Amino acid sequence: MTEFQKKYDALRAAFEQTLSDRLGALSFKPSVLDESFRYSLQLGGKRLRPVLMFAAAQMLGGRIADVAPLAVALEMIHTYSLIHDDLPAMDDDDFRRGQPSSHKKFGEGQAILAGDALLNYAYQICFEECKKGRTYLNAALLIAKNAGALGMVAGQAADLFWQGQEGAGEREYEFIAQNKTAKMFMSAAAAPAYVYGADENTAAILLEYGKNLGLLFQITDDLLDVGGDFAKLGKTVGKDEREKKVSAVRIYGIGYCETKADHYCELCCKLLSDLPYECGFLEELTRTVRSRER
Ligand code: IPE
Ligand code: IPE
Ligand code: MG
Ligand code: MG
Ligand code: MG
Repeated sequence: MTEFQKKYDALRAAFEQTLSDRLGALSFKPSVLDESFRYSLQLGGKRLRPVLMFAAAQMLGGRIADVAPLAVALEMIHTYSLIHDDLPAMDDDDFRRGQPSSHKKFGEGQAILAGDALLNYAYQICFEECKKGRTYLNAALLIAKNAGALGMVAGQAADLFWQGQEGAGEREYEFIAQNKTAKMFMSAAAAPAYVYGADENTAAILLEYGKNLGLLFQITDDLLDVGGDFAKLGKTVGKDEREKKVSAVRIYGIGYCETKADHYCELCCKLLSDLPYECGFLEELTRTVRSRER
C-alpha cells in the first residue's frame, strides 16, 4: 500500500468514526425513517468530499476535529442528493454504492423523506457549528450556497431540463457540471480556509482548485458510465446514453473527454503549487480522481 493510500484510508477512517459517533447518538421515529436515514449514509461510498475537507484542513495547519462536523454535514447533503438523483422521477437508478437505491429498499415516498431528513439534519449541524464564531458561519454559508439553488440543485435542475432535448451544447454541459458536482467540491476544498480565516488568496485558490477537481470528477464519472464496471462502481453503467443525458461523453466524445480530464488534472496541480503549503497529498488525490475506476 502506498503512503498516499495509507493516508486516504486514515482520513476516511477518521470520517467514519465521526459519522458513527454522531449516528450512535441519534434515534428517529418512526423506525423506517431511522433506518432509511442510516442506510444510504452507511453504505459507504468513497467519502471523497470529507477526505478532501480533512486534507485541506491539515494542509492549512489545522486539525480534522476542527472541520469534522462540517464534513458530516456535507456528506449528508451529498448523500441526500444521490437518493433523490436515483428516484424514478430523476435518473431512475436501482443501485447505489453497490446496494439497492433508497427507493428500491424503502419505497419512493420514504426515499424522498430520507433525503429531506438528511438535508435538514445537515443544516442542524451547520447551525451548531455557527455557534463557534464568525469563521464557522462563513464556512456554513459557503456550504449552503453551493448546495442549493445557486449550486447543486441548479445543476440537477439543468441536468433534468436538458435530458433528451436537442440543442444542448458545451455551455449547457459546463453549467450542469459546475453546479451539480463542482460546487460541492468547492465547499469541501475551501471550507477549512473559511474556518481558519485564511487570507483571501488562499481561499480563492482552494475554491478554484475545488471547482476544477469537481469538473474533472464529473468527466471521469461520465467516462465511467461508458467504460466502467458495475462491480467496481456500485451503480448501473450505460444509463447516460440510454437516458439521453447531457454528459461530457455526449458533448465532447470519449477522446476529447480524456484530453479535457488531463487538462483539469494539470490545472488542479498547478493551482496547488501556487499555495504556500505542502500539498503532496492533494496532488496525489487529484491524480487518483483522474485515473479512478470507482
Ligand atoms: C456521485 O458521487 C455523484 C456525482 C457527483 C457524479 P461519488 O462518486 O462521490 O459517490 P460516492 O459518495 O462515492 O458514492
Ligand atoms: C449526479 O450526477 C450528481 C448529483 C448531484 C447527485 P449523476 O447523475 O451523473 O451521478 P451518478 O452517476 O448517478 O452517481
Ligand atoms: Mg443525475
Ligand atoms: Mg444519476
Ligand atoms: Mg453519472
